[in-house]
Amino acid sequence: MLKGIDQAASPRVLLCVCGGIAVYKAVETMRLLQKAGCEVRVASTEGALRFVGKATWEGLTHTKLASDIFDYTESAIPHIDLAGWADVVLVMPATANVMAKMACGLADDLVTATLLAVPATTPLVVAPAMNVHMWKAAATQANVSTLRERGMRFVMPVSGRLACDDVGEGKLAPIDDITDAVLGCVGTVASGDGDVSMSGLRVLVTAGPTHEAIDPVRYIANASSGKMGYAIASECARRGAEVTLVSGPVSLPAPAGVTRVDVVSAADMRDASVAAFADADVAICAAAVADYTPAHPADHKLKKGRECLDLIELIETSDILAELSATKDAGGKHRLVVGFAAETNDLADNARAKLERKGCDLIVANDVSRADSGFGSDTNRVTFVFADGVEELPTLSKEEVAVRLLDRIVAMRQG
Ligand code: CTP
Repeated sequence: MLKGIDQAASPRVLLCVCGGIAVYKAVETMRLLQKAGCEVRVASTEGALRFVGKATWEGLTHTKLASDIFDYTESAIPHIDLAGWADVVLVMPATANVMAKMACGLADDLVTATLLAVPATTPLVVAPAMNVHMWKAAATQANVSTLRERGMRFVMPVSGRLACDDVGEGKLAPIDDITDAVLGCVGTVASGDGDVSMSGLRVLVTAGPTHEAIDPVRYIANASSGKMGYAIASECARRGAEVTLVSGPVSLPAPAGVTRVDVVSAADMRDASVAAFADADVAICAAAVADYTPAHPADHKLKKGRECLDLIELIETSDILAELSATKDAGGKHRLVVGFAAETNDLADNARAKLERKGCDLIVANDVSRADSGFGSDTNRVTFVFADGVEELPTLSKEEVAVRLLDRIVAMRQG
């Protein structure tokens, strides 16, 4: 048992910091978690202490820093007690070395011993940061895949200028995204509603419109607000799923605990979706993807009188939903794929035809001819169409549609 702990207090986050230059960002993340009402304890590797010292962590947490397994006065068995104390564990910045040790089950210091002792039911969030070549190294990528397969949640690094002046992937994700991922887990643990029906699942959600460039200032778009897809992503995270939200241009904030990948065109959305689907269990394609895109977008602003603005040649975009559906059973894995259908007439018949044509498991058919349903509205009137049935729902808020949809998806996965 750890000393000085109020067992009934706020959500408990164990922050494990590793030896990378991004440790200073872990200090700010810890402050954000504290401001959000979490109690944070810190375990540091020796390497991390070279970047941010004991005085900083102890001064800000008002508790002892855990770094030496034989010299932690708060507990006689620090790795077991710290691991058992936490409602959620955050590893940040996760170095290639610590991830390699986690993948192998090595436990040669307090941080790695604690990570090995974390109960399987405790969410573990990993936010890596390192040089681009270290990140892309086959060994690191294999370790990341192993850890993800074991159910750890990753807040993936982003591209940018790195401390070593290389430019590429490996930069720590924005600390708001990391904080949201932790709070998403804590929300699941602390919300009291106990709904962890999607815990351990990885879900890809597409949302919003796409913009297809005609020239640098003009594009073809549609009126999708992204509200439905965002409500689904948020509900998946609330139920404990690890969510990647591939979003076209919308003016909505990223839901808490969700990793958002911003895209612009249908081609970008296709690439990001295929990448995220590789290790997903469920895909929900709620985006209003453009069906056509200009064949030859101009690299300069077209002049209306001279450059045939009235004759834009269009080519068909790839159908993301159909492409994901075609690979859903690859590798012996059965992944569930859900699509939307915007219809103005013969709702169920058109949706059933779309279900068969695109090869998905469920179509959410949306009657966009009604004022209380469809683009921009806060409500939707939808019908679920699946292989052996149809369920017609009344007009509901988009949040409530998300709840009903995820209830059905969870039931389909169990059935
Ligand atoms: N969709 C997609 N990629 C595209 C077009 C559509 O993934 N290039 C997905 C949407 O996200 C949605 C579903 O396909 O889940 C149905 O979209 P909808 O526009 O209703 O259907 P279309 O395929 O465009 O068919 P139609 O125009 O004949 O209704």
